[in-house]
Amino acid sequence: MRAKIMSYNPKGLHLLLLVFSSLVFCVPFVASQCNVRHPLIFNFGDSNSDTGGFSAALGFIYGYPDGRAFFHQPTGRLSDGRLVIDFLCENLNTSYLTPYLDSFQPNFTNGVNFAIIGSATLPKYVPFNLDVQVLQFNRFYNRSIQFKSKGQVDFENALYTIDIGQNDLSGAFNDLSYAEVVDKIPSFISEIKDAMWAINLVGGKNFWVHNTGPLGCLPQKLATRKSNATDFDQFGCIKSLNEAAKLFNTKLNGLCQELRSQMKNFTIVYVDMYSIKYELIANSSFYGFKKPLMACCGYGGDPYNYNSNITCRNKGFSLCEQGSKYISWDGVHYTEAANAIVASKIISTNYATPPLKFNYFCNKQS
Ligand SMILES: *[C@@H]1O[C@H](CO)[C@@H](O)[C@H](O)[C@H]1NC(C)=O
Ligand SMILES: *[C@@H]1O[C@H](CO)[C@@H](O)[C@H](O)[C@H]1NC(C)=O
Ligand SMILES: *[C@@H]1O[C@H](CO)[C@@H](O)[C@H](O)[C@H]1NC(C)=O
Ligand SMILES: *[C@@H]1O[C@H](CO)[C@@H](O)[C@H](O)[C@H]1NC(C)=O
Ligand SMILES: *[C@@H]1O[C@H](CO)[C@@H](O)[C@H](O)[C@H]1NC(C)=O
Ligand SMILES: *[C@@H]1O[C@H](CO)[C@@H](O)[C@H](O)[C@H]1NC(C)=O
Ligand SMILES: *[C@@H]1O[C@H](CO)[C@@H](O)[C@H](O)[C@H]1NC(C)=O
Repeated sequence: MRAKIMSYNPKGLHLLLLVFSSLVFCVPFVASQCNVRHPLIFNFGDSNSDTGGFSAALGFIYGYPDGRAFFHQPTGRLSDGRLVIDFLCENLNTSYLTPYLDSFQPNFTNGVNFAIIGSATLPKYVPFNLDVQVLQFNRFYNRSIQFKSKGQVDFENALYTIDIGQNDLSGAFNDLSYAEVVDKIPSFISEIKDAMWAINLVGGKNFWVHNTGPLGCLPQKLATRKSNATDFDQFGCIKSLNEAAKLFNTKLNGLCQELRSQMKNFTIVYVDMYSIKYELIANSSFYGFKKPLMACCGYGGDPYNYNSNITCRNKGFSLCEQGSKYISWDGVHYTEAANAIVASKIISTNYATPPLKFNYFCNKQS
């Protein structure tokens, strides 16, 4: 491993801010109660919420430096610690979600995680894209009915969380022009729509949908794209990538509205992850972050510490000392410190439409 790339001496002000921030952002993690029923969550998505599925599927081990801030052992999460979904589970005082593909004494009592690193909505029938995750869910449903008496797993009152789309946009931008990417967005949304209807077919009606974050602020994109000087915003992010993310989000919000009107008994909470993440970058020093567009784990130092030849986890990477000073862990995924703040904002209900608490589904009368 290379020498540390950053050294940082917190000045008094930063220390104060840090103390203040941790006070503010720890409060929401007092667990909320599930009074009516035990929480049950079925999660679908990509690396933003994969708690070990890819590792289980491919027998792949992500060891140090992943997990260095919290788990201190390989878990298959692409972060130095907990993901947003982990903090959401903590908020319900329940254990972290077990990956569907976990073969060793899996515990699905509080739900199943179908999310897999690298997943997108398209193409179809490719492991482990969204429709494959939904087929896995259908199989889980069928088997739970086959082996237990119907109703033992409460599919109707479970919460279905979906966080996908980032890889579709990211991948599309590798090969296509902005206009071509924009043309493809409806096909991504259509897959999410099919997934939600498929879940509804077996009784699911409570959905928690995360929109996609500011793609143009990822160190990976900033370091690897040949961008026009006019294509950067005031915080240094790539405007065109963020515009595409916002268009995706507008259409995803539209889908949620459409489904709410078509199915009166759907509860669909749309969460504006884009705003949460963008505000984190825009106001990074307020939250104690130092370089919002620089990866903690990567190569090359300022300004992005990202080099596609020597990425985090590959031979020769360098590592920052304090991940808690960084938003980006590896150039694509967030640090545990950033995830904690993102989760606290989700729980605040300020970014949710309608503004429901994360525990609404385990407290509402069915
Ligand atoms: C969390 O769950 C544990 C048991 O798993 C229980 O002892 C504790 O009281 C719960 N805390 C809250 C805040 O519900
Ligand atoms: C399985 O998970 C549930 C819910 O998180 C927990 O209460 C229970 O203790 C776990 N069971 C085992 C055997 O670990
Ligand atoms: C689940 O069962 C239904 C009804 O028997 C069947 O049509 C469907 O193909 C099954 N799906 C999976 C993924 O096993
Ligand atoms: C939703 O409500 C309709 C009637 O309004 C009912 O026919 C349908 O079974 C309900 N679906 C679910 C999943 O509860
Ligand atoms: C840079 O952006 C300007 C304004 O958007 C555009 O006119 C120009 O063609 C772009 N140049 C390149 C090389 O993409
Ligand atoms: C930064 O934080 C301030 C104070 O909370 C807020 O007024 C402002 O809107 C934030 N800026 C952005 C870009 O989110
Ligand atoms: C990555 O390696 C290739 C082949 O050695 C080289 O051409 C390229 O410049 C390198 N890229 C970076 C960002 O260093």
